[in-house]
Amino acid sequence: MTNSKVDGRPRLSGDVYYPSENVIAQANIRDYEEQVRRAQDDLEGFWGERADELEWYRKWDKVLDDSDKPFYKWFVGARTNIVHNALDRHVKTWRKNKLALIWEGENGDLRSFSYHALNREVCRFANVLRSLGVSKGDRVTIYMGRIPEIWIAMLACAKIGAVHSVVYGGFSVDALQGRIEDSQSRVLITADGGWMNGKIVELKRTVDEALKRCPSVEHVVVVQRTGHGVSMEPERDHWYHNLMNLPIANGKSETEVMDAEDPLYILYTSGTTGRPKAVVHTHGGYMVGIYTTLRWVFDLKEEDRWWCAADPGWVTGHSYIVYGPLLNGATSFMYEGAPTYPYPNRWWQMIEKYGITILYTAPTAIRGLMRFGEAWPNRHDLSSLRLLGTVGEPINPEAWKWYYRVIGKERCPIMDTWWQTETGTFMITPLPVVPLKPGSGALPFPGVEADVVDEAGNPVAPNEEGYLILKRPWPAMLRTIYRDPDRYVQQYWSKYPGYYLTGDSAKRDEDGYFWIIGRVDDVIKVSGYRLGTAEIESALVSHPAVAEAAAIGLPHEVKGTAIHAFTILRAGFTGSPELVEELRDHVSKHMGPIAKPEAVTFVDKLPKTRSGKIMRRVLKARALGLPEGDVSTLEE
Ligand code: WT7
Repeated sequence: MTNSKVDGRPRLSGDVYYPSENVIAQANIRDYEEQVRRAQDDLEGFWGERADELEWYRKWDKVLDDSDKPFYKWFVGARTNIVHNALDRHVKTWRKNKLALIWEGENGDLRSFSYHALNREVCRFANVLRSLGVSKGDRVTIYMGRIPEIWIAMLACAKIGAVHSVVYGGFSVDALQGRIEDSQSRVLITADGGWMNGKIVELKRTVDEALKRCPSVEHVVVVQRTGHGVSMEPERDHWYHNLMNLPIANGKSETEVMDAEDPLYILYTSGTTGRPKAVVHTHGGYMVGIYTTLRWVFDLKEEDRWWCAADPGWVTGHSYIVYGPLLNGATSFMYEGAPTYPYPNRWWQMIEKYGITILYTAPTAIRGLMRFGEAWPNRHDLSSLRLLGTVGEPINPEAWKWYYRVIGKERCPIMDTWWQTETGTFMITPLPVVPLKPGSGALPFPGVEADVVDEAGNPVAPNEEGYLILKRPWPAMLRTIYRDPDRYVQQYWSKYPGYYLTGDSAKRDEDGYFWIIGRVDDVIKVSGYRLGTAEIESALVSHPAVAEAAAIGLPHEVKGTAIHAFTILRAGFTGSPELVEELRDHVSKHMGPIAKPEAVTFVDKLPKTRSGKIMRRVLKARALGLPEGDVSTLEE
């Protein structure tokens, strides 16, 4: 990379980092501009060509069926299974001997799986699931830490056509229970615990609590990770290693033939109401989307060692820890624990040790590690790195430059990828051949048409803020909200009919580069984790002292945004520092540590509209000492 002009390329405005000739010459996507034009003119032809790079049991009759908008269908009539392309396809070739996964536990445990070995475990566990009565279309909840068995569990579900529903292992009882209930899972896969910051995360204990209120679950499969002694309910709970020792758990298992539009998984995400909302992704379009985006944006090559440091419990992990790298036949690395355990050099040490070539993480992790200073990364040889990435929230240019200079040694382009649980794949993102501007996600991926519009849907002028929308369908798009198609239409497709509403505000500069500003709905991004104000508020109100609560996000140096709660106490309770701590712990216990409010303030009343809705916008403006804006609907 250089930040001087490259011959023959137009100069862009602002702080620009141009790709070096050698990065351009090697990139998987060399004919970028041509592909953009191609996708623009012939979206179906473009995605059909991408899909042709994968194997299908039966090819499609039509790439895109838009006869029932916004219920788009992709690769209509095709038959496939994502596992066929993620595993079966590779074990027929020399790649059976290639490493699929290298794993390091926080406590120093090491494991690795070749494609052959991973496929064998997946086949064995697929047989176990079948023996527990799981079949095509059934939902299975997975609640685990970052251990190899989460890959095996997800892939085994997909292989037999079951729909997995992974719940992030950092969530707690209420969040888990609501998600199990909504999905009506009969089988749950978990672990006794996981290692995080030198302590055990009590996964099984949380499961036991949640299941008291989830009668649908008949079987719980428990992976032994920590071995610290957990209670096992006879009949209901089974040790994973015992099931895997049964004769049924042999290495031969058929991959279920799926329709391209059959659901692969559901994944819960936060929206504007408290009810859990599960996004539905498919075997066909999703597979084509993540295969292509990972190959082009992160330039995955046969010899790479890819590390996406997210958690498999979020969409980043589904798309770019588990499925995307396997579809590309890549070698991945996964680490179980905290980045600073036992010291702040843990990540840098592992990059050196395993020769990681591409690192994909979140701004909050970069800011968190940056605080410890350059000496920690400088103790390690990071020269294996060739590309870096970030996702989850806007990255401040200061953190971008630190990442670029201290970690990437000014050699590695940074892919700032904007996307969502709903989009399944990167939507606005640089590619290695595109000039970078720190803090900008650059341009829409080929085939994606994004725009920034005002309230009435008219495009705003360059550098003006507006709503970010997407104007054309894409293969990995969510198909619906599980069991709630009306909400799918209402939430994403009704503000601007025909266009997908992202829920973000953004600007586009004079070069067409997108700058994401943040959520415009009741979603708060804490350390890149997506939380709904409604979920936090209902956790607060479930405490006996709280009558009413409002949660807002305020700027935080490391987390990006932190939760601030305002509560009205019930009669007979008085605010005290002890009660503040009690309420913070209460939210953490019910929702999970990531939802723990930074501060709790006791108030006598909350700003509300005349129809009784809390005006969080006003609370936020007051907290920041900013003008309150239009308050004509305020009740006071
Ligand atoms: C929201 C989606 C999809 C991966 C993880 C997040 C924010 C995501 C960026 C980025 C600025 C970003 C947006 C978006 N976001 N990536 N590169 N720059 N903001 O998925 O939990 O569904 O959250 O994350 O606000 O709407 P998610």
